[in-house]
Amino acid sequence: MALSDARGVQTSATEPGSMALLETAMRQFQCYRGDAVETIDRALAEDPDFVTGHIFRTAMHAMLWERSVLPEVEAGLARLRALESAATERERAHVAALADWAAGDWDGMRARLDRILADEPRDALALQAGHLGDFFLGDRDNLRGRIARALPAWSRDDPGYGFVLGMTAFGLEECGDYGAAEDAGRQALALEPDDCWAQHALCHVMEMQARQEEGIAFMEGRKDHWAQEDNGFAFHNWWHVALFNLDNDRYDRVLEIHDTALRPEPSEIQLEMLDAAALLWRLRLRGIDTGDRFERLAATYEALPAEHGFYAFNDMHAMMAYVATGRDRAAAQLEKAALAAAEGAGTNARMTREVGLPILRALRAFGAGRHGEAVDLLMPVRYRAHAFGGSHAQRDIVHRTLIEAAMRDGQRGLSQALANERIALKPDCPFSRSLRRRAGAPA
Ligand SMILES: [Fe+2]
Repeated sequence: MALSDARGVQTSATEPGSMALLETAMRQFQCYRGDAVETIDRALAEDPDFVTGHIFRTAMHAMLWERSVLPEVEAGLARLRALESAATERERAHVAALADWAAGDWDGMRARLDRILADEPRDALALQAGHLGDFFLGDRDNLRGRIARALPAWSRDDPGYGFVLGMTAFGLEECGDYGAAEDAGRQALALEPDDCWAQHALCHVMEMQARQEEGIAFMEGRKDHWAQEDNGFAFHNWWHVALFNLDNDRYDRVLEIHDTALRPEPSEIQLEMLDAAALLWRLRLRGIDTGDRFERLAATYEALPAEHGFYAFNDMHAMMAYVATGRDRAAAQLEKAALAAAEGAGTNARMTREVGLPILRALRAFGAGRHGEAVDLLMPVRYRAHAFGGSHAQRDIVHRTLIEAAMRDGQRGLSQALANERIALKPDCPFSRSLRRRAGAPA
C-alpha cells in the first residue's frame, strides 16, 4: 500500500522503514545538520526503488548550485526515469523540476515547484527547494510569496511547521518588512530552537537595520543552536557574525572567524568559498591586510575552472579572488567563460548577460586601478544586481565596491551622494559614518 509522509503527502513508497528514514533526512535538511544524503542512502540500500528517496537525494545535490554536482544529479535522474511508471504525478513533477535544473533552466525548475505546491502546499521538499531556488536567483518576491501561498495549509502541530515560519521570516526580510520578519523569526525559534535558517533571517534583519552589537550578542549567545559541529550552514551564519564585527572595526575578530569558522580548511564548496571571498574583499576595500588568505582561496578557485560560467553569482566571487591576487590570466579565462555562458542557453545566460558580466569587468577595472571605468560599469547594474542571486547583505559588496571606486577616482560629488544614501538606509552603522567622513559629505 502506498504511504503518505508525516504531513500527509501521498507518495509511491511502500516501505515504512524508508519513510521513517526520509523523515529523518528531511529534518536534517531543515536544520542543515548531519548528512541527509547518508541517511537517505541507508533507505535506498534497503529499498532501491524508493522514488521519493531518489528525488530527495538528487535535490540535495542540486541545492549546492554548482557544476560539480551535475554527475550525481544526472545519475539520480537516470534512476528516477527508470522508476517513472511507479511514481505518482507529484513525484513525476519533481523529476521534471530536477531535469530542468540539470538543463540549466532554473526558472523552469522554480515554476514547476510552484505548481507542485499549488496542489500540495504541504510538500516540505518542494517548499524548501523552491525557497532555496528563489534565493539562488535573487527572487525576493517569491522568497516571500512562495511561502505565503503555502503557509495557510500548515498548522502549528505539523512536523516542520516552525521551519516554514523560518522561511517566512527570510522572505519578509528580503522584501524589507523587517518588523514582520522579526516576529516570524522569533516565533520560528520558539518552536524550533535549532532552526538556523530562522536564526539567519533574524541576523539579516539586524544586518539591514545596522544592529551590529545586538547581532553579535544574539548570534554568540545562541551558538549552541546554530554552530554545532555537524551544522552545514554554520559557515554562513559565522560570515554574518564577521560582518557585524567588520562594520564595528574589529578586524582581528573578523580574521579569527575567517580562520576558525568560515574557512578552517580549503573547502572546494562554492558556497563556502564565496563567503570567504566576500569577506576578504570587504576587508581589502577597507585596506586591511589579509595575509595570504586571498592567495590560498584564489588557488582553490583556479583549480576548479569547470565552475567558471556556471552561475554568475559564484563567478563574481571567483573574480574578486583573482583580482585581489593579480591573477590576470585566470581573470581573463573567467571572463571568457562568462561571456560564453551569456551567449548560451538557460537561466544563467540571462543572469550573466544582465548583471554578471558588467560586474566581472568592473572588478577587473577596479583591480587595474581604472576606478572611473569600474564606476561606469557598476552604476547601471547595482540596483539590478538582485537578478544574479544572493541576498541584500551579500550584494552590498557591489555597493561597497562602487563607493570605493568613486572615492579612489576622486569623484567627490558621487562619493558624497552614495555616502548620503548609505546613511539614509543605515544611519546607525559605524561603517556608513566612516564612509561619509571619507567622502567629505556634511554630517
Ligand atoms: Fe545570509
